[in-house]
Amino acid sequence: MTTQDELRPTLTTESGAPVADNQNTETAGIGGPALIQDQLLFEKLARFNRERIPERVVHARGAGAYGTFTVTADVTAYTRAAFLSEVGKQTETFLRFSTVAGNLGAADAVRDPRGFALKFYTEEGNYDLVGNNTPVFFIKDAVKFPDFIHTQKRDPYTGSQEADNVWDFWGLSPESTHQVTWLFGDRGIPASYRHMNGYGSHTYQWQNEAGEHFWVKYHFKTDQGIRNLAQGEANRLAGEDPDSHQRDLREAIERGEFPTWTVQVQIMPAADAAAYRFNPFDLTKVWPHADYPPIEIGTLELNRNPDNVFAEVEQSVFSPAHFVPGIGPSPDKMLQGRLFAYADAHRYRVGINADHLPVNRPHATEARTNGRDGHLYDGRHGRQKNYEPNSFGGPVQTGRPLWSAVPVNGLTGNHAAPVHAEDDDFVQAGTLYRLFSEEEKQRLIANLAGFIAKVSADREDIVERAVENFRRADADYGRRLEEAVRELRKQR
Ligand code: HEM
Repeated sequence: MTTQDELRPTLTTESGAPVADNQNTETAGIGGPALIQDQLLFEKLARFNRERIPERVVHARGAGAYGTFTVTADVTAYTRAAFLSEVGKQTETFLRFSTVAGNLGAADAVRDPRGFALKFYTEEGNYDLVGNNTPVFFIKDAVKFPDFIHTQKRDPYTGSQEADNVWDFWGLSPESTHQVTWLFGDRGIPASYRHMNGYGSHTYQWQNEAGEHFWVKYHFKTDQGIRNLAQGEANRLAGEDPDSHQRDLREAIERGEFPTWTVQVQIMPAADAAAYRFNPFDLTKVWPHADYPPIEIGTLELNRNPDNVFAEVEQSVFSPAHFVPGIGPSPDKMLQGRLFAYADAHRYRVGINADHLPVNRPHATEARTNGRDGHLYDGRHGRQKNYEPNSFGGPVQTGRPLWSAVPVNGLTGNHAAPVHAEDDDFVQAGTLYRLFSEEEKQRLIANLAGFIAKVSADREDIVERAVENFRRADADYGRRLEEAVRELRKQR
């Protein structure tokens, strides 16, 4: 044994006893069967069987990093959130990027929205902004989300993603036309997580100290510049380096090249909402910048890699319902559904104490609840009373709601989202198409046609419905797409 070896700590079992032999199972004689008294063998095999937790039902594949958010503008006229209270104020953050449809081991360089889930560890609790790299989404009502995701994931019979299912659903859900146009354009495959924007996507509420409220949309503009992959490049990269995005992020931070984003908000006074030309709570629509110009409010820098991917990325949890005083939800029906769905997923996927793990718990304050116990409870509350009201000096409510009440009207019912003066499912898809350069239009048509052409030969009706939505967005868009699809289907 060398001196170096002598300095090394002893390997132990989970209960801390020294391990005598980590190479050979104990057997009954030389060459005989294994003995039940070899508990090291059982401990290792049993733990190994339990190493995985259920992967996220969407956004399973991802990478994360810690960082810092710095306020660069005075926004106290709009929100009383403490972490936004002063120019120069800094807040620790954790950001998890992801793709949506692929399983945990899927390739990064695919055409899919990217998740942009950001946790601000504020002094008033954690604020989670769980967004994407796209300002809009495919649907506008949470009740459609499980169906939508089923079409993106594996078919119950074939076990693969099927063009029939994807285009059937999108064709029958015309509100998806805007997001689909976005996704099949150049930004549909970012070159890396560093080279894309992030968006809160939904409209959220800000409330100032005086109790006035505003509607806001968040934009995170990459300071690295937008860079995308063409479909062919992405196909090659997905095969050669499935972890391309994850590796790029980690290596950039290791090199000290900390990626940054300029944070902007669009702010709508509450009184504007009812008469605005688009329903401001419709997730399939943007607010054109001419209507509500983005205002710069801060900068986000990612500067520290997690040490342990399982503990800090796989077990990280983000919930759109994690608000802080001065920030709240809007009546967007998608957002309302998400307020329930995430914490429920966390309880299933990570467990009832998920919020107490180091990556998830507040870092700039502490959680003071009467919630207790459950699997893997760490006993942090000691002897403290676990009920309220109590007369033992336990924590008490503030009496001040985090956000403003909003007026409601009418009867309960399964109402469609209200339609404003210029709302339809196609208008903003058409505007986006016409904003694309001729070259981008050509790539968009080729990308869409390549996928639509894969629909089964005997389901021309699915193809027709899909193309019709794009035709309604813009006649030229529809005509070119129809021709391209027809050409490709002839060659099949
Ligand atoms: C009603 C619609 C939606 C529902 C029900 C829903 C539900 C979920 C669920 C259950 C998860 C997995 C959470 C976990 O296991 O930790 C998830 C992840 C995620 N969702 Fe959604 N989602 C919806 C729409 C959206 C929208 C519109 C966006 C973006 C604007 C979005 C962004 C994300 C992101 C970024 C993640 C990954 C979070 C992480 O990194 O842990 N989702 N979603």
